[in-house]
Amino acid sequence: MSETQTTYNYKVVRQFTVMTVIWGIVGMLVGVIIAAQLVWPELNFGPWLHFGRLRPLHTNAVIFAFGGCALFATSYWCVQRTCHTRLWGGPLIPLTFWGWQIIIVLAAVTLPLGLTTGKEYAELEWPIDILVTVVWVSYAIVFFGTIAKRTVSHIYVANWFFGAMIIAVALLHLGNSCEIPVSFVKSYSCYAGAQDAMVQWWYGHNAVGFFLTAGFLGMMYYFVPKQAGRPVYSYRLSVVHFWALIFTYMWAGPHHLHYTALPDWTQSVGMIFSLILLAPSWGGMINGIMTLSGAWNKLRDDPILKFLITSLSFYGMSTFEGPMMSVKTVNALSHYTDWTVGHVHSGALGWVAMVSIGSVYYLLPRLFGKQEMYSTKLITVHFWVATIGVVLYIASMWVAGVMQGLMWRAVNADGTLAYSFVEAVKGSYPFWAIRVLGGVLFLGGMLIMAYNMFKTIAGGNTQDVPVVAAAAHHA
Ligand code: HEM
Ligand code: HEM
Repeated sequence: MSETQTTYNYKVVRQFTVMTVIWGIVGMLVGVIIAAQLVWPELNFGPWLHFGRLRPLHTNAVIFAFGGCALFATSYWCVQRTCHTRLWGGPLIPLTFWGWQIIIVLAAVTLPLGLTTGKEYAELEWPIDILVTVVWVSYAIVFFGTIAKRTVSHIYVANWFFGAMIIAVALLHLGNSCEIPVSFVKSYSCYAGAQDAMVQWWYGHNAVGFFLTAGFLGMMYYFVPKQAGRPVYSYRLSVVHFWALIFTYMWAGPHHLHYTALPDWTQSVGMIFSLILLAPSWGGMINGIMTLSGAWNKLRDDPILKFLITSLSFYGMSTFEGPMMSVKTVNALSHYTDWTVGHVHSGALGWVAMVSIGSVYYLLPRLFGKQEMYSTKLITVHFWVATIGVVLYIASMWVAGVMQGLMWRAVNADGTLAYSFVEAVKGSYPFWAIRVLGGVLFLGGMLIMAYNMFKTIAGGNTQDVPVVAAAAHHA
């Protein structure tokens, strides 16, 4: 074994971890801006920076830049540590980092210019799609190559979740991005009509299921036991959880297309699989939270654990709400309203962002040779600011959403509509303003995190860390 093979590759983990915080700030800042544009329409500037252009910039930045960097960082850390081996893949490793950053910058340039396929969460045009494929295939080679050269026989469950995420996202991207270029910056989908919608929401829902859920469950299965200092509550449950979750998610997409031109039976299949999805989702949540059983006292003064466990509570909440919203009669009320946006952010801020933040706080001191973060108190402040921010965001959207749905369907005795559309818009203003406040708080928390991060890094020690001998069983 050469010298470099005896140490972990922390460099790429450091790079992705720092960029997680930076892209988190950028993406959430755009979120705050578009939230403010809904309250103060005069903030819609020029052709490039209005709501319609900035909204996809927000979703791409938070999902793929913030969430993506968090997934790369944690999966690269976890796969090395649990396989007791250095990351494999040579030049492919920096290619994944730099390639992913270039894709993010290209997204940030093309989306405000209005260059888009128009497919939600798959807006990037075909040349960027090709780049995504190259980077993602390299990621798969690095990840599975590292698994293949592991020095322990067992493959820890977190790696199963990360691996499933990598394979599923590759499939989704290739399936949904099938498009015919007509110029360097414009292409058309190779599907048409209802088929196009069906493929798009097979993609869209599984982007939620695999990109925003399976990968983050991998994070949960590694970082919750590590931070709690206890083994995962039930390893058997984690295996059942894995297979049940990945099987069920694939079929639930049509719940995004209730009451559309999609055949009725397909909508019902989507609804039924969404209801079934509650079981594996809650199995995973319970497994994570119960990992703390016997050590609940640690929650009192460990803010990193607070982030991780609160994220699981939001995960449980959004995976209860999702199946309910997939019931056709409930969806008849919730669809098109801010209830959906509230649901999205209880998953996105409460679950995805909070589990990532907790994991990044775990990683930073270890990556930069420190005992702990510069300030634990600031992590506690971040936790409370973020939690209050999420609650304000989602509670205001629930109220606004249900109000909108009820106003749109209210009819007078003679069958005419009781309210005009604009009356529902007017009624929504106070709630949109509360959302801005929630967003500002959450963003403020991220800025506190960035300060804490740079203080921790300053004077940090980035020496190579030797690979733990396989006989010493813990990662
Ligand atoms: C400071 C934090 C954030 C704020 C203020 C914010 C704000 C917003 C706003 C105003 C919208 C548009 C809603 C509409 O069209 O009516 C939106 C959409 C969206 N955001 Fe955020 N956001 C934040 C963080 C995040 C994060 C961290 C994620 C993901 C990890 C995320 C994912 C999404 C998604 C997926 C949508 C599209 C929702 C849909 O189509 O129903 N957001 N956000
Ligand atoms: C058991 C799990 C879940 C189920 C069954 C579910 C179900 C649903 C349903 C029925 C909708 C509304 C579709 C519509 O009316 O247009 C929806 C929207 C959405 N959900 Fe979930 N959800 C689940 C978990 C989650 C989680 C954990 C997240 C985030 C991490 C999430 C992110 C989203 C997003 C981004 C949308 C908006 C899509 C769009 O229209 O742009 N969901 N979900």
